[in-house]
Amino acid sequence: MNVCGKRILVGITGSIAAYKSITLVRLLVKAGAEVKVVMTPAAAEFASPLVLATLSKHPVLLSLATGADWANHVALGRWAHAMVIAPASANSVAKMATGLCDNLLLAVYLSATCPVMICPAMDEDMWLHPSTQANLLRLKGFGNKVLDVETGELASGLFGPGRMAEPEEILSALNELLAKRAILAGKKALVTAGPTYEPIDPVRFIGNHSSGKMGIEIAAALAAAGADVTLVLGPVDLQPPVGVQVIKVTTAQEMYDAAMACFPHCQLTVMAAAVADYRPAVVAAEKIKKATNVSGEDMLTINLVRNPDILKACGQMKQDHQLLVGFALETNNEEENALKKLQEKNADFMVLNSLRDADSGFGTDTNQVTIYSKHLPAQRWPLQQKKALAGQLVEMLALHLPNVAID
Ligand code: PMT
Repeated sequence: MNVCGKRILVGITGSIAAYKSITLVRLLVKAGAEVKVVMTPAAAEFASPLVLATLSKHPVLLSLATGADWANHVALGRWAHAMVIAPASANSVAKMATGLCDNLLLAVYLSATCPVMICPAMDEDMWLHPSTQANLLRLKGFGNKVLDVETGELASGLFGPGRMAEPEEILSALNELLAKRAILAGKKALVTAGPTYEPIDPVRFIGNHSSGKMGIEIAAALAAAGADVTLVLGPVDLQPPVGVQVIKVTTAQEMYDAAMACFPHCQLTVMAAAVADYRPAVVAAEKIKKATNVSGEDMLTINLVRNPDILKACGQMKQDHQLLVGFALETNNEEENALKKLQEKNADFMVLNSLRDADSGFGTDTNQVTIYSKHLPAQRWPLQQKKALAGQLVEMLALHLPNVAID
């Protein structure tokens, strides 16, 4: 897959290298991409918005509001198949790494759900400064692709690293990024995410702390890799990713029904949901009132019955062409429990996360996991953003699907 027929957002920040962005836009349009340009106010000093608007055939977007018009940065961020920020100045890199949002380009970057490629350009000393390097590392951790700078003559007259990659090189890196993202084109994937709520009465339920973040990021990474994704999502506040078919459920039984209907058609299934193992045997029709029992005690007993085990049911139905992945959330005897679940549920991979690891598990933006499989040695991955982890997981799983080539 390449940029042909793709919607590409080109972000331009204030750097002398902005003159090269004009060639980049021209190359993209020639290659068949639909291009929109968003610039920081400083960038407009270096490259003409008129030239860029003419080449891209779209008005150049410069500010969050023009007169009574408001540029919808969320819509723009979701419009694009890929966003390339070229050149990315040290200032903008620092702002992106910290989530600052004082111009339209930064707002679009924060809203972008598509893959983002960053092409830095700056003078040698700024490039080599530890803060710039730490910021770029952070951006890589968010799952952004950072293109290396070139060494050569710089705007200061010095010779060293800091030159933005040439437009031809950016185009080929973008083609590569999109091709890599399409490793699961033609494949169907199923993801479960979020908690389940098991009603006790019309106002109360048994639930857990899952936010849905991990599963939602996996669904987004699968969709970005070209898969046709169905996300069975428990009750969460987060927005599901675009380009994914979402089935909203509340209880474990509903999640089971939705997953069972979808699973036979999917080559890849990842179950990241925190499913309640038990539900109240009887759901009271009216709100349960406080009351003393026959022994005069102010106690309430709720009888629970087992919910279906969705992962296990899929493991029993699994065919040779299907890859099944479960998550194990543990608080103790982590490895032993994860291996037991891998075996008992007939999964191909079990992704262990432990509540004993800092910044991991429920609700966090980061996670630290160990991957178990029946045939490979365990792999402990570093603590990373859930988004980056999802991308790494999808790349690894794609390698284990039959007939999937990955470079
Ligand atoms: O949603 P977040 O806030 O981002 O948090 C992410 C997470 C911690 C919920 C996620 O990373 C995770 O670990 N999900 C699985 C949590 C869990 O319930 O694990 P478990 O060890 O109880 O279950 C093992 C596996 O069986 C899981 O794949 C689970 O989806 C599945 N299962 C469990 C019970 C059941 N009745 N049906 C199931 O399918």
